[in-house]
Amino acid sequence: MNFQSLRCLVTGGAGFIGSTLVKRLVGSGAQVSVVDNLWRGNLENLKSANGDWAIDLEKDFHLVDLTDYAKCAELVREVDVVYHLADIVAGINFVFGNEPFIFRQNLLINTNVLSAAVLNQIPNYIYVGTACSFPKSLQMQPGIVRLNEEQTYPAEPESSYGWSKLMGEYEAELAQKDGKINVGLLRLHNVYGPGAAFDPKRSQVLPSLIRKAIRYPEEPFIVWGSGNQYRDFIYVDDVIEGLLAVFERGMNRGLIQIGSERPTTIREAAELIVKISGKNIDVQWDTSKPEGDRGRIADCTRARACLGWKPRVDLETGLQRTYDWVAARHALAV
Ligand SMILES: NC(=O)c1ccc[n+]([C@@H]2O[C@H](COP(=O)([O-])OP(=O)(O)OC[C@H]3O[C@@H](n4cnc5c(N)ncnc54)[C@H](O)[C@@H]3O)[C@@H](O)[C@H]2O)c1
Repeated sequence: MNFQSLRCLVTGGAGFIGSTLVKRLVGSGAQVSVVDNLWRGNLENLKSANGDWAIDLEKDFHLVDLTDYAKCAELVREVDVVYHLADIVAGINFVFGNEPFIFRQNLLINTNVLSAAVLNQIPNYIYVGTACSFPKSLQMQPGIVRLNEEQTYPAEPESSYGWSKLMGEYEAELAQKDGKINVGLLRLHNVYGPGAAFDPKRSQVLPSLIRKAIRYPEEPFIVWGSGNQYRDFIYVDDVIEGLLAVFERGMNRGLIQIGSERPTTIREAAELIVKISGKNIDVQWDTSKPEGDRGRIADCTRARACLGWKPRVDLETGLQRTYDWVAARHALAV
């Protein structure tokens, strides 16, 4: 597929994954516009490595809240593909402390963007789901749980975040079955890399631990939960390759998971981050804090078969790059 001159709208394009996608699409010759309300996104994310803006902010960046359908319908038009990445995403404390807010926001954002895309006859819609949408009971089983796409129903996600993201997948499938739009559906495991939010309030586990390591001993290195819970961490550049491949080869082919297929416990991740920091860090465990599901990893058989996709960046390399990026950003902020 040639992305040259392809007109793309990236919702959530000032966010972590969205901004990385924007830069990759621009680099491939696509015409890219972005909509984001900067709830967690940051305009700085849209700067290229040389410090130039990746897009013309004046013309191609739209500061809009996608829960507003009228504004959404105005914006989601005249493109060849909508990459819909905007949603409320945050770390576990925010997710479990704000369940009604997250559910309502994500339902509204997802239904508005999809409805506007159908209304304005946009041919292609790409949506990203989450591994948090798998049933909780499966993620609490002993041993390493390897999940495939067919294990989604009967649905029973642990959080309103998982439910809301699942409803986004479901509605996209309905629109596709209705013949209204071509749909690409990726379900992502735990994504990390440069660009991830690392603030104390809303960051996810790896960038949060990296921030603590960089700030140590000013900020204590406290890890939430037992450390025995495990996740499937996937580096952002691998996810971007999946997002390009789904447009090329994965439209209307159902849900496709993207993960590393490797389990990493939070304890292992914390130890790696301490090692990268080169500091003598006293690691503290706070078992009073939520730790979420016991664990799950992806079965990427479908991603290999449909997209010819496989992950390329190992955890050590990815964490080192993320650490360097957070350290550089942190140094600028202090
Ligand atoms: N990061 C992960 O580990 C992960 C895993 C699975 C799925 N996903 C999905 O990938 C997508 C991108 O996630 P991310 O990690 O880049 O998160 P992010 O928070 O960096 O990006 C989401 C963007 O959406 C924007 N946004 C939120 N509410 C909005 C609204 N009402 N109107 C307009 N913009 C709004 C935010 O400002 C942010 O820039 C999300 O849909 C998320 O559910 C992420």
